[in-house]
Amino acid sequence: MKEYASLQTQLDLSQGIPYTPDWSAGADFIQIIVDACLQFKPSLILECSSGLTTLMLARCCQMNGYGLVASLEDGEQYADKTRDYIDRYGLSEYASVIHAPLQKTPLHGAEYDWYINDAIPDESIDMLVIDGPSGFIQKNARYPALPILYPQLSNCCSIYLDDAARPDEQAIVALWQSRYPSLRHEYRETSRGCSILTV
Ligand SMILES: C[S@@+](CC[C@H](N)C(=O)[O-])C[C@H]1O[C@@H](n2cnc3c(N)ncnc32)[C@H](O)[C@@H]1O
Repeated sequence: MKEYASLQTQLDLSQGIPYTPDWSAGADFIQIIVDACLQFKPSLILECSSGLTTLMLARCCQMNGYGLVASLEDGEQYADKTRDYIDRYGLSEYASVIHAPLQKTPLHGAEYDWYINDAIPDESIDMLVIDGPSGFIQKNARYPALPILYPQLSNCCSIYLDDAARPDEQAIVALWQSRYPSLRHEYRETSRGCSILTV
């Protein structure tokens, strides 16, 4: 919890945060996405998995004066918990937590559990934050994010992948790069690794 204190101060989140040990994104990853959100002022942020990241990005949008975080969450109880915090801070104008159960999704000769497709807002995405679904559910669990969402990414979109130090995430980045050779990739040494890709 202590490592989130400077983010809480920066974002004036003094009424608590939806922190869950082992499940919340690390403070170093969140600091990267918070800095990017405040610098680039995206209109639509799409997030795969909700929680602490959603609250902090929603506050950034409020500080920017515009922007929306649309957060896909497969677990209904986690979606409700995130919404409670969004309401507590009066941020509902800046965040929409979408309960999106995972469904079998065929992709490139394999089948993945991925967020139900009609839940994804049909708008151009300026910032994509990928911290779900949980890595243990299948091999390369987060691979579908780019093939499914790529047509919706704006031409200045940045993609932030958490847990990028894991072998699965490294394989996912390599697969994305071979499919989309124009992507630029930067790796940041955070506690769990952060891959930043730009379109
Ligand atoms: C790594 S968590 C990230 C959540 C969010 N980005 C954050 O920073 O708080 C990814 C997913 O794990 C699931 N999850 C969250 N807390 C959990 C818990 N205590 N036990 C099992 N699954 C959990 C949720 O479905 C969530 O979308």
